[in-house]
Amino acid sequence: MTNEPSEPPSVAALAVTDTATKATEQAIDPWNVSAGTDEQGNAKEFDYAAISKQWNTKLIDDELLARFTKVTGKEPHRWLKRGLFFSHRDFNEILDCYERGETFMLYTGRGPSSGSMHIGHTIPFEFTKWLQDVFDVPLVIMLTDDEKFLFKNDLKIEDVRQFARENAKDIIAVGFDPKKTFIYMDTEYIGGHFYQNALEFARAVTFNQVRGAFGFDLSTNIGRIFFPALQCVAAYPTSYPHIFGDDPAGNRSKKSSKIRCLIPCAIDQDPYFRLVRDNSHKMKPPIKKAALIHSKFLTGLYGPGGKMSSSDPNSAIFMSDTAKQIEKKINKHAFSGGQETIELHKELGGNPDVDVAYQYLSYFDDDDAKLDELAQQYRKGDLGTGALKKICVAKLQEYVKGYQDRRKEVTDDVLEAYMTPRELKWEGNKNPVKPEKK
Ligand code: TRP
Repeated sequence: MTNEPSEPPSVAALAVTDTATKATEQAIDPWNVSAGTDEQGNAKEFDYAAISKQWNTKLIDDELLARFTKVTGKEPHRWLKRGLFFSHRDFNEILDCYERGETFMLYTGRGPSSGSMHIGHTIPFEFTKWLQDVFDVPLVIMLTDDEKFLFKNDLKIEDVRQFARENAKDIIAVGFDPKKTFIYMDTEYIGGHFYQNALEFARAVTFNQVRGAFGFDLSTNIGRIFFPALQCVAAYPTSYPHIFGDDPAGNRSKKSSKIRCLIPCAIDQDPYFRLVRDNSHKMKPPIKKAALIHSKFLTGLYGPGGKMSSSDPNSAIFMSDTAKQIEKKINKHAFSGGQETIELHKELGGNPDVDVAYQYLSYFDDDDAKLDELAQQYRKGDLGTGALKKICVAKLQEYVKGYQDRRKEVTDDVLEAYMTPRELKWEGNKNPVKPEKK
């Protein structure tokens, strides 16, 4: 998920500009994400309901969350309850699998476009770790150093490979269970069954389909046109014979082709996975459709319509920031929903919904009652912007510090252990519901 203004806008994302005003529609694809603007050209908030409707995903509702609790016996993560993960495809079918005690795999990834990760990058991984803990299933994490090389013309292969290693260490520090987690970078791992899947997939998918999904044109380099096959077949269990097994002749096995896959990702990655869902039945053996669970973008410090960007240090809290830097960034740059002056704030109150400090608190504080209370006080004007920011700073410092302590433990040997192709061990649902005998 990166902003790359130098890229031409894709067909999928062509912004509709009303020439009479400065109003534009939001535009979202895997390489460019921009919010719409109003008549004056000011950024609006992302309209997530609209993107879900446009792409035909399902919104996560209370019924689905209730089912989750019934099947797993666990409370939904606060990011599910608070709508940060807001949309899905077939997540209910993953719950069915789990209920029956069937294995499924988790798959997520990161495009290593820089050496430093910010909290916007760690959130999907934190969430994935939580899913892994709840379901006790194997997880593969793909680092698309090849993608970043192909899509960022200023980067060398050596750069993206270096970023991939550094990012892998950052990802490990989230706390994934090494027995259940395989992390790989494309320029090292892809070959064998993975590549066989990519070829089969690539032969079944036309340029027209890829162009429709991503908006490529005749001057697009051919690497970019092929790359989606790799990110897509990474969702296939048959790409990982050391985890899911192969057949006696050493080929991709029918048995492992039946294992379902759940992909947690930000909504901008959905075009890839529509492509995979539309074409999996053409594989030999055919593969079940991957399920998805989508997140919103983590708001950048500048507020609504912006996201955290690695290229603008003041837009993001980096996982390498010191306690002082965090304090300074929040105090100086975090967009406030409060009023211009203390007097006005006391009189009119603030708006927590657009307040960045409040939003970050809602990502990192589990305490629903406390958050409600803070929002109420803020709206009434009893709680000022400074005081709210202070609470947010403390929470973020605690989160980043905990992470940094774990990051220190991630040596080269630890990295090698996660990145070695090997068997994984998991138990899944220990109390599955037996299918009723007919
Ligand atoms: N293309 C993604 C990025 O640029 C990386 C990625 C690969 C990914 N596979 C994924 C992200 C699966 C989410 C889920 O960040």
